[in-house]
Parts: sequence; C-alpha cells; structure tokens
Amino acid sequence: MPSVNTYSIKALVEPLVSISASPDRDVRYFLSEITGVPLAELFDQVQMSMAQYREFQAMCARRLRHEPVAYILGYSEFWGLRLQVNASVLIPRPETECLVEAVLQLHGDSSIRCLDLGTGSGAIALALATERSSWHVDALDRSQEAISCARENASRQETPVSNLSFYCYDWTSFSSGDRESRYHVLVANPPYIDPVSDAVCNETRLYEPDCALYAGLNGEADLIDLIDVGALLLLDAGWLYLEHGYDQGERVRYFMAKKGYQSITTMKDYAGHDRFTLGQWRIIR
Ligand SMILES: C[S@@+](CC[C@H](N)C(=O)[O-])C[C@H]1O[C@@H](n2cnc3c(N)ncnc32)[C@H](O)[C@@H]1O
Repeated sequence: MPSVNTYSIKALVEPLVSISASPDRDVRYFLSEITGVPLAELFDQVQMSMAQYREFQAMCARRLRHEPVAYILGYSEFWGLRLQVNASVLIPRPETECLVEAVLQLHGDSSIRCLDLGTGSGAIALALATERSSWHVDALDRSQEAISCARENASRQETPVSNLSFYCYDWTSFSSGDRESRYHVLVANPPYIDPVSDAVCNETRLYEPDCALYAGLNGEADLIDLIDVGALLLLDAGWLYLEHGYDQGERVRYFMAKKGYQSITTMKDYAGHDRFTLGQWRIIR
C-alpha cells in the first residue's frame, strides 16, 4: 500500500498565483484529474500518494510555463461535450457557444445540410450534429492533425454521431459540386487576429496554433475569403455565420453587403461584445 499524504489545497495553489488568473480552479482541475475525486468533492485538503504528488508537480511546472490547462489535461468542455484537445487545435471558447446557440435557434428540425469551415477540434460541428439528428453536418479543416482530433472526438461520444462527415480541405478549394450538394447553413470561427496585435495572452501566443489564430489584412483575410466561399457553397437563401473579433463587426457587415448577402446582423457574445455576423445569400424571388 503506497503511503498517502494530506496536502492543503491553499498551499498547492500558491505557486500559480503569479501566472494564472484562476489558480485555484487550475489546481482543482489537476487534483481532480490525478486523484479521481470529483471537483465538487474537493474541499480544503486532498490526499495524494508520492506518485500522484509528482504528477501534480509536473502539471504545475507546465502551467508555470503558461501552458493552458486544457492542453495539460488533454481535454476541454464545449456545449456540454468533452473534447480532446492538443497543440494542433484551438481550445474551443465559451463565446463560440453563442454562435452555436444562434444557429440552433434560427434553424429547426427540418433536414438541412450544414458545413463547419475550419472545424479544429470539431467543437461547432459536434455541437450541431448532436443537437440536430435530422441535419447532415460536414466539417472541414486544412490541418490533417485537426481533422484526426475532430474525428476522434466524434467517435468518443456516448451516442454514436452518424450525421457528421469530416474532410481535410482548404476552404478556398472545397467545392460542393452540383447544386444539390450545396448547403443551407455555413458556419465558421476562422482565424481573425491581426498578426501584429499585442493583445494576445501568453497562453494563446505561446501554445495555440498560429494557423488557428492569425490572418493577414489586419486579421480580415480569412473572413473575406469565407464571405466569397459562402457565395459558392450556399444554396439560395442559405445562411453564413461568421465569428469574428469584438471590433470587426462593422467590417464584416460591409464585406457581406458588398458581396450581395442580405438580412445581415451582428450578434453579441455572453460578455456583451460583438462576436459573430450572419447574412443570407441571395434570395431568388
Ligand atoms: C479559430 S480555429 C477554430 C476551430 C473551431 N472551429 C473552434 O471554434 O474551436 C480556425 C480553424 O480554421 C482552420 N483553417 C484556417 N485556414 C483554413 C483554410 N484556408 N481552410 C481550411 N481550414 C482552415 C485552422 O486549421 C483552424 O483549425
């Protein structure tokens, strides 16, 4: 029987205070992962064997180098789904759940075709596919590592997800072919950070993949590309949903209107920031 010691959680948190905005939460996630004690049952103290304590110290050492908790644990939560994440995919953000919520609210249970452009861990595609079994959801990413991660996430869901397909493609060369295979809904959270921005935190700047974060033309290049791609992939009266930076709404509305989209609206995230814009592709009357 390995010897077990009792540790004060407050003392374990102390080393992380200088680098983390949420040191107590970080430590509790690590402890829960290592000991198997649910978060809700971790109070002031925790018991660990020497091996477990060493594992905890290794996690804290990574965190002290600013590595995000999700990469250290190897998973993140999105829309109530547990998703594996690694250094080749963006850690799904809570604000992207607002985008998912809006798509679900605007489109009901009828059988539609939906495409997630730049799926990363598969977060948006999986949330939509699991909420709407009547939809067929396609998801693409140009990163093979991201597609492998997204596929793995789909295969790990408790209920098999049979209405979701993955494609390793660049969205500028993805063709829906004939008219019948165009989409009712396109959704994307593309890279939209200006590469010269100094507003990116250490966690993101040092660990998340550049190809998921930065876009040329002051962060607008991929948003503009996707507005063009939408015109090729959407059915008439289909909808494009684009996540963007809090200060990019006006420009996205401008580019969508210029291309010919209608009913263009920018919506806010849970923090009250402009976060995504939707527009409807040409309605033929
Ligand atoms: C900001 S991440 C979003 C990931 C995921 N949808 C989410 O919300 O968590 C953008 C993703 O777009 C992918 N991407 C960037 N440019 C692309 C392109 N031209 N074609 C296809 N995928 C692209 C990146 O590999 C990355 O996975």
